[in-house]
Amino acid sequence: MVMPPAPRSHSLGDEPARVETAPPPVQHTPLAGPLSAEQVVRDAAVIPVIVVHELAHAVPMARALVHGGIRMLEITLRTPVALQAMQRIAAEVPGAIVGAGTVRSATDAQAAALAGARFAVSPGYTHAVGQACRDHALPLLPGVATGSEIMAAQEDGFRVLKFFPALQAGGLAMLKAWGGPFADVLFCPTGGITAQNAPDFLALPGVACVGGSWLVPSDALAASAWSRIELLAREAGALRTAARQAG
Ligand code: 3PG
Repeated sequence: MVMPPAPRSHSLGDEPARVETAPPPVQHTPLAGPLSAEQVVRDAAVIPVIVVHELAHAVPMARALVHGGIRMLEITLRTPVALQAMQRIAAEVPGAIVGAGTVRSATDAQAAALAGARFAVSPGYTHAVGQACRDHALPLLPGVATGSEIMAAQEDGFRVLKFFPALQAGGLAMLKAWGGPFADVLFCPTGGITAQNAPDFLALPGVACVGGSWLVPSDALAASAWSRIELLAREAGALRTAARQAG
């Protein structure tokens, strides 16, 4: 017999305490060992692009995302606490799979690996970054915005790429044009993607997932609004279904 979820009491950050029938945390199949880039992009419809300013936010934010069904978490190397945030999440949030975003150098790749990152995302592509990620066994999603950049990344053996900045660099029309010559590439468009336009991107055959910052809004972090972040993650989980209906 399937039991209904037990009522649970919330008192999360600045949100008022309340008792409600909350949906149970989403269960994930464990992913032990080294990952492939394809596993990273196929896990969920969205990879959240996360900017952590306050170290204390890292663990409850990651827990909320994992409970909501999103476990591939891109923590951008843009703040002084980013590496510590990765370490804490990797150590304290079961089920979370930490990735490093904004990886721009071999030094970034090494620091990310040491902090517990299991994948890396870069805003552009250089051979040095690609090689450093290989050296540290980090699957990399290299950022590309032109055909030449795709070819350079492919020459180095990368075929799962971040299309960045997606909207500004041509959006859906660009991806459709690339679908001919680069039909063997899997893309994660990032930059300007929202819950509203994500289904249109996800409906394209070359798109495995999208990246976006909307799952972790800065005001939700500032207000410790963890239930809101969990809800945004749950809603993101429904985007592939929306894409199939749109496609
Ligand atoms: C970034 O690196 O900041 C990502 O492109 C996120 O872009 P978004 O805020 O438009 O989702």
